[in-house]
Amino acid sequence: MRSLVAGNWKMNGLAASLAELESLKAALAAAAPACEVLVCPPFTLLAQAAAVCGVALGGQDCSPRDGGAFTGDISAAMLKDAGASSVIVGHSERRQIHGERDSDVAAKAQAAWRAGLSAIICVGETEAQRDAGNAHGICSGQLDASVPDGATPQNTIIAYEPVWAIGTGKTPTLDDIKAMHAHIRSCLVTRLGEGARGIRLLYGGSVKPDNAADILNLPEVNGALVGGASLKASDFLGIIGAIKPA
Ligand code: 13P
Repeated sequence: MRSLVAGNWKMNGLAASLAELESLKAALAAAAPACEVLVCPPFTLLAQAAAVCGVALGGQDCSPRDGGAFTGDISAAMLKDAGASSVIVGHSERRQIHGERDSDVAAKAQAAWRAGLSAIICVGETEAQRDAGNAHGICSGQLDASVPDGATPQNTIIAYEPVWAIGTGKTPTLDDIKAMHAHIRSCLVTRLGEGARGIRLLYGGSVKPDNAADILNLPEVNGALVGGASLKASDFLGIIGAIKPA
C-alpha cells in the first residue's frame, strides 16, 4: 500500500497561498515522493489550485445532500467538479464546533461516494477520554457509527486524530499511536472483512518535519493528515520526505 501525506489547510489560505502549491509542485516534479500527496485547501481555492496543481486535491467537508436549497453548503459533486478527488469528513473541529454527530459523518461519507470522491473519515478521542482510559473505545464507537457499510480501500481513508494533539505540539507516544492504529485496523477488519486491510490509516495531530519519520514509519501508519505544517511547502516537503520508499 502506498502511503498518503495529506495537508488540511483548514480556514487558511488566500489566492497568494497558491504560491506554496507552486513550490510544492516544483519540488515534487524534481524529486518524486515515495508517497501520494494530497492538499485540501479551502473551498474558495480549489478550482484555482486545480489549475496549478501537480498534486491531488481534496475538500475539507461536504454536505450530506446532493443539491438543492441549502444555502452556504457545498456538495460533494461541486468539490469533484472543482478538481477534488477526496474530501475530509468528520474532522474533530466540525464534530466539536458544528455539533456533527457520527450519523452526519456517515451521511457525508456516503454523499462523497455518490459523487465519486473518496472519504477521509476522521476519528479521535479528547484528552479527558484518553485520561479515563477510553481512547480505544471512543475510536471504535466512532468508526462503527461514522464509517458506512461499503467502505473499501478505494473509497475510504481513516484518519486517527487525537483531539488533544491537534495544533498543540503534543503527540501520543509512538507506542500509543501504534496500539491505536492496530486497534483501528482490527475494528475495520472485524466489521468489513479482510479487504479492509487495504484501507489507509493516517495519523494526524502535530505532525512536523522533526517527528514525521518516527510516526510515519510505524506499522499500520499509512500516512499523515497534517494541519499547520502543511501551510508552508518547505515544512510539508519535510514531512513528505520522511516516508521511506517501500
Ligand atoms: P495540526 O497538524 O495543526 O496539529 O492539525 C492536525 C489536523 O487537524 C489535520 O486535520
